[in-house]
Amino acid sequence: MAQAPACVLVIFGASGDLARRKLIPAVYDLAREGLLHERTLVVGVARTALDNDSFRAVCREGAASFSRGRSVDPALWDLLAPRIHYVTTDYGSADDFSRLDDMIRSLVGRCGGADNRLYYLSTPPAAFAPIIRNIGKLLADRGAAQDQVPWQRVIIEKPFGYDAPSARALNDLLHAYFPEESVFRIDHYLGKETVQNLMVLRFANSIFEPIWNYKYIDHVQITVAETLGVGDRGGYYDQSGALRDMVQNHIFQLMALVAMEPPAALDAQSIRDEKVKVFRSIRPVHPQQAERYFVRGQYGAGEAAGVRTAGYLKEKGVATGSVTETFVAAKIFIDNWRWSGTPFYLRTGKFLPRKISEVVVRFRSPPQTLFQKQCESPVYPNDLVIRVQPDEGLSWRLNGKVPGGQLNIKPVAMDFLYRTTFNVEPPDAYERLILDGMLGDQTLFIRGDEAEAAWAVIDPVEKGWARAKTPPQEYAPGTWGPKKANDLIELDGRRWMHSGDEAQPIIACAL
Ligand code: BG6
Repeated sequence: MAQAPACVLVIFGASGDLARRKLIPAVYDLAREGLLHERTLVVGVARTALDNDSFRAVCREGAASFSRGRSVDPALWDLLAPRIHYVTTDYGSADDFSRLDDMIRSLVGRCGGADNRLYYLSTPPAAFAPIIRNIGKLLADRGAAQDQVPWQRVIIEKPFGYDAPSARALNDLLHAYFPEESVFRIDHYLGKETVQNLMVLRFANSIFEPIWNYKYIDHVQITVAETLGVGDRGGYYDQSGALRDMVQNHIFQLMALVAMEPPAALDAQSIRDEKVKVFRSIRPVHPQQAERYFVRGQYGAGEAAGVRTAGYLKEKGVATGSVTETFVAAKIFIDNWRWSGTPFYLRTGKFLPRKISEVVVRFRSPPQTLFQKQCESPVYPNDLVIRVQPDEGLSWRLNGKVPGGQLNIKPVAMDFLYRTTFNVEPPDAYERLILDGMLGDQTLFIRGDEAEAAWAVIDPVEKGWARAKTPPQEYAPGTWGPKKANDLIELDGRRWMHSGDEAQPIIACAL
């Protein structure tokens, strides 16, 4: 990988959890891999009063607990720590930003680096606008936004807006100060190795393209399941819910990469053009149909994977009687030539039985003239299972003959496991994304129109749910969501699948 140029990574929200658990460990791992320029500076910014030493101690603990090796090399840390600084800042104060700017300039001057800046907004969304305006003012004072030397870029964490109009407003605000080429909207799923591998799988192999369409694919399932609840994020989550928190971004991105047409080139513009077309081709769901195509659930009291909960409504920060969903299952149609009539079933939730993110592509059954008459039941259709996490890799489910004199058919798996094939732990998504931000590569970030197009699919569903008379259906922690989620797919004669399903029985056929 290319090494990043010298720059200043300015992290807003630096005293928060994301910085400690993800951003700082990613910076440490980039340094360990030799991918950070030796004159990189990290400036943590937040409202909490901290001095440099206490911030460095937090960073060291974060790197020790969450970096790839779960440890810190003292020699490397001694090189990195003096480059980490902290500035207490009121996000609404232009004076504070001007002080911050002076401080960064003097640090850059002292270390002889370059004043390229990567502003990383990892704050609650309410702080985005004041921060963008205040950075914008600094840029305007310098006259620097357009000429891009030294460059100034902004990485903006999710959620990017709350619906299409708020996403548009945020885009407008960003574009008032930054050209689109300098705006990096994060969806950390795009930084995951297996998600990037989706494009390699589809476009570096010739066997998929001829069968990757409605003629051969019966349906696609995407599951992103978590075993934990909302934890201490109840305040944020209650305003968001699973549809906004997971479907609009992570699941839609997985779906877009599975569904999109081959891009004209492997550049950010061409790839994102194709993803936008997918979102625009999704069959609109009228608010009145929201409950039919988008099932919602909320976890009650119970236990999943050894963790007990008193139920979503008892979580800290959750409003009394909240109807926010912690589970969504959806059926979506992409009305274009490739996918005409092929359903995409999507599912995500908290407190489900296993932490698992995967895509299952189910192929149509073969014309069964050969086996239909002789076998006790139809042979199994083929599945391609793309495991995003855990056990990153993919599996083909095929039918094989059980050795012996009988004609017995058993589903077998051909497995590719990253861990054993490449013998490395894949880098964390944030490592890749921070590096790409420094390198100016937008391929794995969401474009402004893409965010708006994804919200345009979600908005009518939220509207329909808000008008609905029934609240989300309660489900027991440790189960795969409410009953209606099963009905959604089973009434179509299909069923939810995921790796780890019990082995299918052998099918006996007469010779
Ligand atoms: C975040 C959501 O974007 O993704 C969280 O806000 C969720 O609610 C998380 O837990 C899941 O990410 P991952 O990488 O653990 O699958």
